[in-house]
Amino acid sequence: MDNIIVIENIVKRFGDHTAVDGLSLDIGRGEIFGFLGPNGAGKTTTVRLMTTLANLDEGRIVIDGHDISKDPIKAKRCLGLIQQNVSLDKELTVYENMMHHAMFQKIPKAERRKRIEELIEYVELDRYRDYMVNSLSGGWKKRVAIVCSLLHNPKILFLDEPTVGLDIDARRKLWDLIKKMNKDGTTVFLTTHYIEEAEAICDRVGIIDNGRLIALDSPKELRNRIGRMAVEYYGEDGKTEYRYFPGRQEANDFATNLGNDYTVIVRRTNLEDCFVEITGKKVGGLR
Ligand SMILES: Nc1ncnc2c1ncn2[C@@H]1O[C@H](COP(=O)(O)OP(=O)(O)OP(=O)(O)O)[C@@H](O)[C@H]1O
Ligand SMILES: [Mg+2]
Repeated sequence: MDNIIVIENIVKRFGDHTAVDGLSLDIGRGEIFGFLGPNGAGKTTTVRLMTTLANLDEGRIVIDGHDISKDPIKAKRCLGLIQQNVSLDKELTVYENMMHHAMFQKIPKAERRKRIEELIEYVELDRYRDYMVNSLSGGWKKRVAIVCSLLHNPKILFLDEPTVGLDIDARRKLWDLIKKMNKDGTTVFLTTHYIEEAEAICDRVGIIDNGRLIALDSPKELRNRIGRMAVEYYGEDGKTEYRYFPGRQEANDFATNLGNDYTVIVRRTNLEDCFVEITGKKVGGLR
């Protein structure tokens, strides 16, 4: 496989706290990769290390053949980043923000307008081009940030929690846009708390906990690992129990045998179940 990102044994410490603890991971060219984990697991720190915003304490990261410690400028040219908290100039219009970024990124003057126009059309922002960024909803602000990060035509796009705070419609539209960018050749690395997001768009998922990678697979394989079907049931005490089965027949048989004292739901296993099974943690920390 052609790996566009190679991460070898990376470590990042803050004082005596190890935020990223010996993480190794390869990302294939053309993948949509989802990085999942609870608050404080080390997702943003890993993204900051990969995008040269933070320095490694140990290990090595290679971005499209460029070791980021030896050749950060070349590595940086290959990547675009949309941070967890989008940083745009709220006092400028959408178009002015894009122009500002284009100048900042040293896009040649002759190309700036053309590139911005292409991207405005690409993300369907035309009707908002003269709006003040401040007046846009979260979903449209994200699109402005996406344009700003794509101006230099990066091969890899990092999105740190792209859909937090967006409504379902805006979230689905952003998923479609991410899939479109990926289809057009961009490798995507996104972090998320939303398991359904990973299931909807990611080819592979890595689960990180306490700075360590604890699972790595396709959403489907992760589901199959614990069993394709889930039975969720609770009795009078209201405490929900979960059991997992390879097929619907086994799940139905178990549900039937529980009798009438329980409220029972039979459904497909989701990544949330996987997370809980793998980490032994309640999902409360993941939301
Ligand atoms: N600049 C910093 N200084 C000190 N500690 C930090 C710093 N940045 C992150 N940390 C710590 O490193 C750990 C990992 O943080 P990180 O932001 O990477 O988590 P995350 O997985 O992105 O969490 P979230 O889901 O809340 O965004 C946390 O314990 C955090 O407090
Ligand atoms: Mg984060």
